[in-house]
Amino acid sequence: MNDKNYKIIMLGPPASGKGTQAEFLSEKLKIPNISVGQLLRDEVDKKGERAAEIEEQMNSGGLVSNAIVNELVKNKLSQDEIKQGFIFDGFPRIRIQAKYLDTLTDISHVLHVEVSDQEVENRLSGRRTCSECGDVYHLKFNPPKQEDVCDKCGGKLETREDDTPAGIKKRLKIYHQETEEVVEFYEKKGVLIKINGEQPIEDVKKEIFSKLDLE
Ligand code: AP5
Repeated sequence: MNDKNYKIIMLGPPASGKGTQAEFLSEKLKIPNISVGQLLRDEVDKKGERAAEIEEQMNSGGLVSNAIVNELVKNKLSQDEIKQGFIFDGFPRIRIQAKYLDTLTDISHVLHVEVSDQEVENRLSGRRTCSECGDVYHLKFNPPKQEDVCDKCGGKLETREDDTPAGIKKRLKIYHQETEEVVEFYEKKGVLIKINGEQPIEDVKKEIFSKLDLE
């Protein structure tokens, strides 16, 4: 059900639910969800020459260099799988990345998922991520059927390395200092859609689907 060539960006603070909602959209529209955070974690797992630098930045809650991130994004955008559209989760995060993306492609919708800093802290302490397929759970709001086991693939659920109090604080600071400028950038372009992220997961999904006319 995708005849429109959706090119969507998910924007929002850490734990706003960008990844969770991007997966719903990906399933509905049958287009890939490209999580730049996950691409970077994959680079770390491959243990290539840039792995140590990426890991250090991510674990501290800081941003990975533009050179690395832009190259990963450019490679993704050259692949056949994105010809029918895509969802970017976590990119762009700073104005210079948004300008770079502008040189590569046009964006159809930017979903800005809004949540308070307090809610971010509540959510990140309960997040668990599958070490095999990356599926995301929450101990209270979206628990797996069996403790510490992924419903989808049976992989072991883990806490992310950057979900520490210091890492969360730094990611929130970067969001307010840098990513809010990206929100303004897309608002001026007329493609920004505001989403109330402080509702139960299913209600956020309904709001997104309704605002994209997907129901
Ligand atoms: P990334 O992996 O993108 O992390 P993030 O932006 O901090 O976002 P999160 O993944 O923490 O949260 P989310 O909004 O996806 O929420 P989720 O759905 O998981 O990036 C990690 C790092 O990579 C960055 O810090 C940086 O170092 C680097 N990086 C990435 N992109 C970069 C870039 N462009 N440039 C440079 N560096 C970059 O949900 C969170 C939890 O809440 C889950 O447990 C979920 O189950 C739960 N939840 C979700 N929705 C709800 C709800 N409505 N109610 C209750 N609980 C909910």
